[in-house]
Amino acid sequence: MIFYFSATGNSKALAQELGRLLNDRVEDMVPLLYSSPREGQWLGDDKPLGFVFPIYGWSLPNIVRDFLCQLHLNDYNSRYTYFAVTCGDDVGVADRPIRVALVETGLQLNAGFSVNMPDSYICLPGFDVDKDEEREAKFARFGLRVKEIADKIVRREEVMDIKRGAFAWAKTNILGWYFRKFLITDKPFRTTADCIACGTCVKVCPMHNITLDEHQDGVNGQRSIVNITWHGHCTGCLACYHHCPTRAVRFGKRTEKKGQYLYSKYPVKLEYPLP
Ligand SMILES: Cc1cc2nc3c(=O)[nH]c(=O)nc-3n(C[C@H](O)[C@H](O)[C@H](O)COP(=O)(O)O)c2cc1C
Ligand code: SF4
Ligand code: SF4
Repeated sequence: MIFYFSATGNSKALAQELGRLLNDRVEDMVPLLYSSPREGQWLGDDKPLGFVFPIYGWSLPNIVRDFLCQLHLNDYNSRYTYFAVTCGDDVGVADRPIRVALVETGLQLNAGFSVNMPDSYICLPGFDVDKDEEREAKFARFGLRVKEIADKIVRREEVMDIKRGAFAWAKTNILGWYFRKFLITDKPFRTTADCIACGTCVKVCPMHNITLDEHQDGVNGQRSIVNITWHGHCTGCLACYHHCPTRAVRFGKRTEKKGQYLYSKYPVKLEYPLP
């Protein structure tokens, strides 16, 4: 069984490809988060348990932590359990908080993998989506990397095959701590006059954190006023920003000139080595 969370599609693509190669079921964490737990139904077979998601601030996203928090999986702690994360650059020592979260659900952690994919973080100065060459280079390596990971899972390897990067401990525990505490917030979000009230941001928000109100204003109600409101329960995934068809979602003044990214916008071909 493979559970995934994904805001811009990288981790969903990874989960689906692993599911195909391992002939395993793939489930989106978000609807499960809002339904009552039914572990027995999900985990009936004896396949490995996989958790696939993006890295945020060199750690796991709060929404993934919330998903894990509601699970009680003591009966499954003999199952081979792995995580596979996607990241723009590196993961620091994210395996440590991930291990803690998994152990709290009653599981053990046997393996961890990271896959470099196009970057979705755009909120701070100096951060933007990848340029074409970098994005294409990551896509070109994607197929081989997924196959490599699937082979290791089939062999039940006990391995931590992740890209930690330089200053890994400090990234997760100091920079990442600050990032997660102060920069995972929806306060700076606003919309521009380009908003066409399509409702996409409301639909894609995994936290149900956005509402759209539209009302008529002006003489004889001839002017339509649209209010998009963020309600303070944000997991920082930026799905609302990246999915907006008119680039009307802004994170303060810092994202005016930043790009958008969605995996589904690119025709990614997965290349596998010949047997
Ligand atoms: C809030 C946020 C924080 C991020 N932090 C990191 C990070 O610490 N290290 C990294 O390499 N990439 C980071 N990224 C990039 C994502 O991990 C990467 O683009 C991922 O593949 C997105 O996955 P998705 O398409 O499944 O949502 C961050 C992205 C966001 C939105
Ligand atoms: S996705 Fe963009 S255009 Fe659509 S309602 Fe939200 S802000 Fe407006
Ligand atoms: S408000 Fe936007 S960034 Fe925050 S959780 Fe919802 S979609 Fe993600």
